[in-house]
Order: sequence, then C-alpha cells, then structure tokens
Amino acid sequence: MKCNIGVSLAGIDLRNPVMPASGTFGYGQEYKEVYDLSLLGAIVTKSVTEEPRYGNPLPRIAECSQGMMNSIGLQNPGIKHYINEDLPHLRECYYGPIISNISGFSPEEFGRLAAAVDGQEQVAAIEVNISCPNVKEGGSAFGSDPEMSRKITEEVKKNTSLPVFVKLTPNVTDITEIARACEAGGADGISLINNFRALKIDLKARKPVTAVKYAGLSGPAIKPIALRMVNEVYHAVNIPVIGIGGISKADDVLEMVMAGASAVQVGTANLIDPWACPEIIQKLPQRMEELGISSLDEIRGVI
Ligand code: FUM
Repeated sequence: MKCNIGVSLAGIDLRNPVMPASGTFGYGQEYKEVYDLSLLGAIVTKSVTEEPRYGNPLPRIAECSQGMMNSIGLQNPGIKHYINEDLPHLRECYYGPIISNISGFSPEEFGRLAAAVDGQEQVAAIEVNISCPNVKEGGSAFGSDPEMSRKITEEVKKNTSLPVFVKLTPNVTDITEIARACEAGGADGISLINNFRALKIDLKARKPVTAVKYAGLSGPAIKPIALRMVNEVYHAVNIPVIGIGGISKADDVLEMVMAGASAVQVGTANLIDPWACPEIIQKLPQRMEELGISSLDEIRGVI
C-alpha cells in the first residue's frame, strides 16, 4: 500500500503533518546542525513580541515524571530582530512553510505584529498565542476570555491576508467556547493545547523548583487530555485543528488525527530527543501501512 502523508491545512499544502511547536525549536538555528529542516511539514517559530524580552528569572525549567515544566516568560528578541535576522537565517537552511507565532499584550499589539510578518517570504501562516501561562498580563488571561479571544482574532485578521491559527490554553472550563469565539472572529484554524499551569516543590528547600511559582506542564503526561480537547474542538468548529500535547511517536500522530487534527505539533519531545520530528515523519507511513490506513484524510475525526 502507498500511504499518503501529505495534508492540506487552511489552503497550505504540507508534505507531512508534523511541525515543531513554538518555543521548542527556537528559530531553527540549533536544529539545522542536527538534520535537514526541509524534512518538516512546517516550522512554528518561538513567540515574538514587539519589544525584546529577557523572560522570567532562573530556574525556569524542571523535569517531572512523564513531562517537563517551563516558566520561560516569552523570552524573545523582538519583532525587528525576528524579521531582520531570525527569518533570513531560517530561510538559508529551510525551504518549507514558516508559521510565525506572535504574542502581544493588547489586541492592538497583536494587530501590529500580524502586519509586520504579513508578506515576509516563506511565512505561510500566523499562530496567535493567547495561551502562555507564564506572563502576568496577557497570555492565557486573554485566552480564557471568549470576548477577548474573538477581539484579538479579529484584530489579527484585519492586519493580514495570511491564514490565522489561534493557539488555545487548556486552563479553562470549556475550551469549545473559546474555540468558537475565535472562529467567530475569523480564525482559519485552532492550535491546541498549550501547557497546564502546574507546581513542582523542592522538599528540602521547601520552595517551588522554578523561580516563578507556577510553570507550564507539557509532555506525555498531558496527551490524553490534549486528545480529549482536540476531539471536543474538532466537533465544535468548522475550521481545521492542529493537535498539540505529548506527541513523541508516529502512533501519537495517528491518535491526534483520529481525534480530529489536520496536522500536529511536536513540543517537549524535541527537547528529549532532537531527532524526534524526523523519526516520527519516517515511521508514519510504515505505521499507517501496518494499520491499513492509506491516507490521513481517511481517519481524520473518526472518533
Ligand atoms: O513562557 C513561555 O515563553 C511559554 C510560552 C507558551 O507556552 O506559550
């Protein structure tokens, strides 16, 4: 059987459904030394804000069972550096679609960021981060409010003709309410889930392990919850869903597609094994053949 792993995502043709998640791949410069980045379906770059940010104090990473926690706090070099340095360097070693993840502290900042990346060579879509749990203002506070989620989506759409995917936080009571608000605001797709606000304690120090008390939990521990939320959102909206949360192998991709995902993002697994994405891409057709699946379209949303 010849398995087709190509997918179409809001009008963008991807050679396969696998892309590294924002914040786990920087702007590609470290990974270009590891493998040919053009093997990837797409690359989602680290969240960029208007102004450069140092992020939160250290320590801001912790390992935990079945996952990891981070409280990075949107460290990034700012939009000017992203456009003038990071995108050109990425284009030197990667020829596929780039999805620019943007994060603002007001709807207007989101709009200006969208306008700035619009028209940049190879930028095929914008991912709107309204789900970072590690900032005092904005971030997941925006993404927990349906009205604000809709407003930010509208503001981004006003400032770009690129497809817009909105990345949602799982730290809400009903994620479908937020997804529907983004769809009403004109979103072309929904990325989910970002990480869970969590706490790890150092018993001897009697203190949290991270300098900022709460940090975002990601990795295999969250995969079953991510699958449930992807499935809920798939059935609630009429736009594509990008599945994120604990994906580390080809079978995880197939589970996400059965739950309703059109494409997937691999996050924490990149930090455990830098070859995670190409290994998943290589194994995917083999697993599909073993399971009698000829295309991803055939199994999308069967659950
Ligand atoms: O803190 C961070 O930079 C993480 C961002 C996110 O999870 O969206």
